[in-house]
Amino acid sequence: MADLKTEFAGIRSPNPFWLASAPPTDKAYNVKRAFEAGWGGVVWKTLGEDPPVVNVSSRYGGLHHHGRKMIGFNNIELISDRPLAVNIAEIKAVKAAYPDRAVVVSLMVPCEEQSWRAILPIVEETGADGIELNFGCPHGMSERNMGAAVGQVPEYVEMVTRWCKQFTRMPVIVKLTPNVTDILMPARAALRGGADAVSLINTVQSIIGVDLDQMAPMPVVDGMGTHGGYCGPAVKPIALRMVGEIARDPGLAHLPISGMGGIETWRDAAEFLAMGASALQVCTAAMHYGFRIVQDMIDGLSAWMDEKGYQDIHALSGRAVRNYVPWNTLNLKFRTIAHIDQERCVGCGLCHIACEDTSHQAIAVGGVSGARRYDVIESECVGCNLCAHVCPVAECITMQPQPVDGHVTWREYEHSAERLAGCSVAHGV
Ligand SMILES: Cc1cc2nc3c(=O)[nH]c(=O)nc-3n(C[C@H](O)[C@H](O)[C@H](O)COP(=O)(O)O)c2cc1C
Repeated sequence: MADLKTEFAGIRSPNPFWLASAPPTDKAYNVKRAFEAGWGGVVWKTLGEDPPVVNVSSRYGGLHHHGRKMIGFNNIELISDRPLAVNIAEIKAVKAAYPDRAVVVSLMVPCEEQSWRAILPIVEETGADGIELNFGCPHGMSERNMGAAVGQVPEYVEMVTRWCKQFTRMPVIVKLTPNVTDILMPARAALRGGADAVSLINTVQSIIGVDLDQMAPMPVVDGMGTHGGYCGPAVKPIALRMVGEIARDPGLAHLPISGMGGIETWRDAAEFLAMGASALQVCTAAMHYGFRIVQDMIDGLSAWMDEKGYQDIHALSGRAVRNYVPWNTLNLKFRTIAHIDQERCVGCGLCHIACEDTSHQAIAVGGVSGARRYDVIESECVGCNLCAHVCPVAECITMQPQPVDGHVTWREYEHSAERLAGCSVAHGV
């Protein structure tokens, strides 16, 4: 059996699945039940200074698409609205009761040295395994010069990280906001400040929809709305890219990454690990399906790792990073062609319409005795994949790699005699 034990920034957990800082980790009642369900660790809902914040009602918005609920999830919630002492007492009790699980405390206090110096010993006294600096909250807290307002300024990220390293012995994980142009800037700043690890992504600034009766952004609070933080399956591509970007950067290659953003299945988990994460966090999927989903993720991940021969998380972590390259180094000679399985085809014609109207006119429509038939015109097909994506039948349209006729990258092709002579490299004409 694959070994899922994880050591992340010196913090041990029986598996890489941690609950992200959010409502599922807001109180001991939740966290204990999460641990009983099998979660390897938690990042406690962000603590701040007293008096606690006041939250609004309502707080959440969902993006539902064609019968699939919550493919995206949006919130305008702030950090913990419970008194600091209550959270601290519960964290201490939970850590004592579950010494083998990772208990990390998320923190957000004003960007002043004294505020950080004051809260760190209080947290350290709980016996927690580490802290996560919430530099990501994109709403509410950022208007008070915290959260993303800090995370978007590399100098602040470095400064606060350095204070935390100075005032505590606990490992410091810096949680990054995706609401920046270049994720490498805050990641490098965290490293300069002495961070033991980074975690990403926090939520993406968003308006989930507009209530057209009340004429206000959703969720509507007494007739008005505000932008919030977007997460769930829809943000996974954004998160994977940012995780990979950090993992492949030579200067950051040794900085451990806790990956999150849309993880819902063992396959999502495996993808984040492959892109360079060595621990994982989950929020929306737990809020959608409950704590028990972790068992499916544990079982699925370990079964797949057994099948592929990955003995532990370390062996899997970062395996796809070397293949995440700049566009300019992709092989222009490589070509795939769509193939339609006529046995599976239901004749809906979506592939033809998509290709005819918006792509390369490479799917011909024909047929005998009233039955429509669609065939790929191989000479016209550029292998864009659109037909395979619009086809509603599983494995009806597959992309078939063609024999590779050499290797030419754009960098090589750009100044080549072939290009100057007006030849298309991919088609060899
Ligand atoms: C309702 C809600 C509240 C959240 N509160 C916090 C928070 O207090 N601190 C924090 O660092 N992140 C917070 N997050 C962000 C999550 O920790 C996580 O970064 C994000 O949801 C992406 O993961 P997911 O796609 O699995 O949900 C919150 C997310 C949600 C949905």
